[in-house]
Order: sequence, then C-alpha cells, then structure tokens
Amino acid sequence: MPFTIPKHIAIIMDGNGRWAQRRGYPRVFGHVRGSSRVKGIVKEASQLGVKALTLYAFSTENWSRPEAERKVLFRLLKKYVIREGEELYAENVRLRVIGELERLDSDVREVLNNLIQKLSGNTGLQLTLAISYGSRTELTRAAALFAKDCQEGKVRPEDMNEALMEKYLWTAELMDLAPVDLFIRTSGEYRMSNFLLWQAAYAEFLFLEKHWPDFTEGDLRLAIEVYNKRDRRYGGVKP
Ligand code: FPP
Repeated sequence: MPFTIPKHIAIIMDGNGRWAQRRGYPRVFGHVRGSSRVKGIVKEASQLGVKALTLYAFSTENWSRPEAERKVLFRLLKKYVIREGEELYAENVRLRVIGELERLDSDVREVLNNLIQKLSGNTGLQLTLAISYGSRTELTRAAALFAKDCQEGKVRPEDMNEALMEKYLWTAELMDLAPVDLFIRTSGEYRMSNFLLWQAAYAEFLFLEKHWPDFTEGDLRLAIEVYNKRDRRYGGVKP
C-alpha cells in the first residue's frame, strides 16, 4: 500500500488549561504554550504536503469562559497572525477563517482580514482557523440561508442535495478539500465538541492522551502513520 498523506487534517487543540494547572501555572499560561505550538505544526503539515489544515482556535461555547481568559486567547491569536505573516507567506500558505466573525472585535477581524488578503495568492497549504465556530450554528445558518434563497426565488426546495448543502457551509470555499480525512484531538477527551460535524462524516479519528502544548511535529507524523494503517471503506466493502 502506498503511503498516503491525508489531504485535510482537523485538530482540536485541547488540554492547554490542564497542562498548565498540572504544573502549577495559571490556565492562561497553557494557552501561551499552546499557541506557540501552532507555528511548528503548520510548517510541518505544509512540508509534508497536507493540503488543508483546520485548527479549532475558539468555539461558540468558549464565549462562556471568563472574560480574562477570552482576552488572552484573542491576544494570542492576534499575536500569531501578526508575527507569523511573513513566514506563512514564505511557506506558500493560504489562510481562511470559519465561524461567526461578526462576533469578534474589529481589531482581531482586521488583522485576520489583512493576512487573508496578503496570503490570498498563495497556492500551498490551506490553513483554516475556526474562530467562534460551532457546527450546529454553521448548519442552522446554512438552513436559514437556503430558506432565504428559496423565498427570493434563487433556488427551489427540491434543489437541495449534499453538494448544494456544502455551498451554504462556512467551509464552502475549501471545495473538494472540505471533507476531513484525519481528525485529531489531544488531551484524552473522546468527543467532537461541535467541530466540523458535517465535514468529518467519514474522517478517521485519533484521540491522543497528550495535552496540546506537548504535541510535536513528530506526533503529527505519527498520527499520519496511524492514519495509513486505517482501512477507509466509506460504508462500502473491499473489492
Ligand atoms: C483548549 O484547551 C484550547 C482552546 C480552547 C484554545 C486553543 C487556542 C490556542 C492553542 C491558542 C490560539 C490559537 C492560535 C491559532 C494561535 P482548554 O483550555 O480547553 O484546556 P482544558 O481542557 O485542559 O481546560
């Protein structure tokens, strides 16, 4: 069997808080260490030839965290976007953001939009940051948009099918890269937590005990090795 690089990898970068608490640090220090792991993982994915990498940076449910923690998360996100812009450009990475962007502060939106623009001509790894993202919101929003298009006579209810549904999702621009091949979650939790529920319908799942700040480039390569041992049948049978 040839070695396959998964086209689309999605990661829930979980366990920052526990990583810090276990070492006697405040939770936010875990986010600091966690955010500093992103750079290396993006580069490794790009160099391995992964086509799309989607990172769960902030969920719709994360709005319920204390304001101080939310502030740190958005500050780290901004810092990443500002600091890594040049390197992402040199690495030929494109950037997209999925989620309720309208809920973000305008300064965060602005740095994100600037970098998206700067990287828009690149042709390599498609990096997607899921920010204020939740699949249930994505799907309800898709239903509402479709209903509106029906009302305006742009489409008819009977036009709805899986391909059309995908056009109403936040991941529409990923096109054939939208289906997740490998779904990784760190920190020993076995849940999807409202992340890419539609797109991960046939993903291979890998749950790791490590917390995100300890996740290395080597772990990413190992995850891809495990992926290569999986037997993907998409509900069919082997010939
Ligand atoms: C989960 O850990 C992690 C998050 C909610 C945020 C992930 C964000 C980053 C890694 C930093 C910013 C992102 C980028 C792209 C630079 P947790 O707080 O839920 O940990 P716990 O489960 O141990 O409490």
